[in-house]
Amino acid sequence: MEFRGKRHSNVTPSAELTISAASAKDFPLSALPEIALVGRSNVGKSSLINALVKQKIARTSAAPGKTRLANFYLIEKSFYLVDLPGYGYARGGVESAEAFEGLTTQYFDPARQEGRRLTGVFHLVDARHPSLDSDTAAHEWLSRTSVAIALVATKVDKLTQSEQNRNLKLLSAAYDTLILPASVPGNIGLDEIWKVIRRWTNLQAINAC
Ligand code: GTP
Ligand code: MG
Repeated sequence: MEFRGKRHSNVTPSAELTISAASAKDFPLSALPEIALVGRSNVGKSSLINALVKQKIARTSAAPGKTRLANFYLIEKSFYLVDLPGYGYARGGVESAEAFEGLTTQYFDPARQEGRRLTGVFHLVDARHPSLDSDTAAHEWLSRTSVAIALVATKVDKLTQSEQNRNLKLLSAAYDTLILPASVPGNIGLDEIWKVIRRWTNLQAINAC
């Protein structure tokens, strides 16, 4: 069946948490494609996973620093969405942990890619704050890993249309990559994100969206 380019919002994809990895030795060795979600704490990574699979599988929180492990979610038994710990927040309230945590660095380490298939990364940036230094630094770091990147501008529901236009322009100027505006309330932009997932995984018939 061909689902490409069509809207199937009534389909709920299967999704299960395979492992919450505390270190690289726990990363699943599998031939299945992996797509990682990276971004500042509280930007909406876990919420986006829930919205994409239309079920509350990932834990979210209004307070930053919720996801501390690398959570591998197996979707449609076909690929992994990997929810990585956010950057820009350190427990204890110090805003000093701007850099990626050790776990994220390990995740992208080419030496640890053997037996795995990382096919793309969604870099999430809060659409209200398009030019944070920590985001540009993270993006430069990700670009050096040579994995395919798409930028997701989150929480656009919090902006007026003209603020959205202005901030998306700023993001386009700052980031040389595909930019996908998204919002969990209203399910805005999810179809476009699914299209990218299909492209990266080469799974045209994923029964979703
Ligand atoms: P960490 O796990 O701490 O790195 O955070 P995270 O990036 O996983 O963020 P999470 O999904 O937990 O969301 C953080 C907060 O933002 C929660 O209160 C969410 O409800 C809220 N949120 C997430 N996405 C959106 C969105 O599109 N619009 C609005 N208005 N709020 C959102
Ligand atoms: Mg999270």
